[in-house]
Amino acid sequence: MTSGASNETATTAQRIGVPREIFPGEKRVATVPEAVVKLIKLGFSVVVERGAGEPANLSDDDYREAGASIADSAAELWRGSDIVFKVRAPTPDEVELMHEGQTLIGFIWPAQNPELMQQLAAQKVTALSIDALPRTLSRAQKMDALTSMAGVSGYRAVVEAANAFGRFFNGQITAAGKVPPAKVFIAGAGVAGLAAIGAAASLGAIVRANDTRAEVADQVVSLGGEFVKVDYEEEGSGGGGYAKVMSEGFQQAQREMYAKQAREVDIIITTALIPGKPAPKLITAEMVRSMKPGSVIVDMAAEQGGNCELTVPGEAVVRHGVTIVGYTDLASRMARQSSTLYATNLFRLSEELCKTKDGVINVNMDDDAIRGLTVIKNGEITWPAPPLVAAPKPAPKPTAAPVAKKGHGEPSGPMPAGKLAIVAGVTAVLFALVGAYAPAEFLSHFTVFVLACFVGYMVVWNVKPALHTPLMSVTNAISSIIAIGALVQISPMANAAERPNTLIVALAALALVLTAVNMFGGFAVTQRMLAMFRK
Ligand code: NAI
Repeated sequence: MTSGASNETATTAQRIGVPREIFPGEKRVATVPEAVVKLIKLGFSVVVERGAGEPANLSDDDYREAGASIADSAAELWRGSDIVFKVRAPTPDEVELMHEGQTLIGFIWPAQNPELMQQLAAQKVTALSIDALPRTLSRAQKMDALTSMAGVSGYRAVVEAANAFGRFFNGQITAAGKVPPAKVFIAGAGVAGLAAIGAAASLGAIVRANDTRAEVADQVVSLGGEFVKVDYEEEGSGGGGYAKVMSEGFQQAQREMYAKQAREVDIIITTALIPGKPAPKLITAEMVRSMKPGSVIVDMAAEQGGNCELTVPGEAVVRHGVTIVGYTDLASRMARQSSTLYATNLFRLSEELCKTKDGVINVNMDDDAIRGLTVIKNGEITWPAPPLVAAPKPAPKPTAAPVAKKGHGEPSGPMPAGKLAIVAGVTAVLFALVGAYAPAEFLSHFTVFVLACFVGYMVVWNVKPALHTPLMSVTNAISSIIAIGALVQISPMANAAERPNTLIVALAALALVLTAVNMFGGFAVTQRMLAMFRK
């Protein structure tokens, strides 16, 4: 076992320590055996506190098998590690166990924990706060633990809602009667809201959602929800992908719309947050009273004061016949899943910190992502990081006509005149050559083939990506019809002068059977897939 500072003989590789989380009710753990294997490949050694993984159903033996050693106590673990991976911010007692030169990685929330920041700085440690990651950097996404945890929480919010709701989510027609689908309204369509939309829609509910940032409307629809607009024009983006506090006029219009939704829906899941501000109060006591008895509200903003006036943080309460779930530990309630995602985020961060793969980290303050995360460097508070400088946009070419951005599901836009002329010229020469040298029948088939390619290309290019798979199965079916047509065409030619060739007839029959399977199968699969999009 190595201990970076104390053991100089074995190797310079550093040791990562993973303590048991001591925050009441916290079940997550900062690494999992699969990640331990990868960390060891990066050159680190890993030590895990005895029983650290138990609340997430991970045994000490699982960690041992992955190559980690087990420390008997928290003191042994903290003192013997060069780097400590944690989920929750450390307590003052844990900070006491830290030593100079040690690196701490976890959720520290520097803005909310100024005292903790001072304690850590006094211990002359380096602290990387995973919540301070600059999330808009696309290269940082693999390390974005806020997104991972929000995704798990959004899913769990739906599970909690389903648990408290006394009916099916999907509509059913049974011998015992018809069951209408549940109606779910999601307030706030950020990472957690989108995860909740996907989960509720996949359970078969009718899902509606609202957000002050209009740009999320397409994402809501692509996950199977309906975006409900507030009847008031105001831009809701506050920068960095986050929301801002809206004007009084907007809030009034939003309250009216939410009041209408509250009367109609069975479940409301609220996720609305504004960085650095208390959660906006979107669901009033009056709205709760107007909901049908047995309805459910899951308030994911409970820890930040709640989106609903009647939420009790950390508890599920019943008010006016409506269950209001205010749990603040949704990610921890799926401890194995969230620990696995979190461990992967920290492993990805370790890769960035240890590009040399020799088990020694380099906290490179010239790297935008690492700079953003580093809130204390060798005892010096470096939080907050300076704002990211956006890469300068290339100046538009003055003469070029605007060309639509190409991508699946987006029309490709008009082809520039020059390119069009070249394509037309090449096609004309090709046709002239085929016309001059190939038989007449070939030319007519060739024309049909070229036109089919063109039509096929235009159809696929203009269809939304979500519909590509059903489109593929229907084109599969159609191409099989073409094969049947081809067989019909070929058979008279084969039999023109004499009796039909038995081999050809047998092969044609076999091809016909296979093609029929492909054709009817294609249509059946299309129907089933399209049914998934219908409500
Ligand atoms: P969040 O947890 O701070 O907020 C949740 C949602 O509540 C946001 O969508 C916000 O617009 C909405 N909201 C706030 N006030 C509201 C109100 N009064 N009424 C209705 N909705 C309200 O945000 P989260 O989920 O952490 O991230 C928000 C966005 O940040 C993402 O949707 C994404 O656009 C962006 N982001 C970008 C990343 C990237 O570029 N790599 C990574 C992560 C997030």
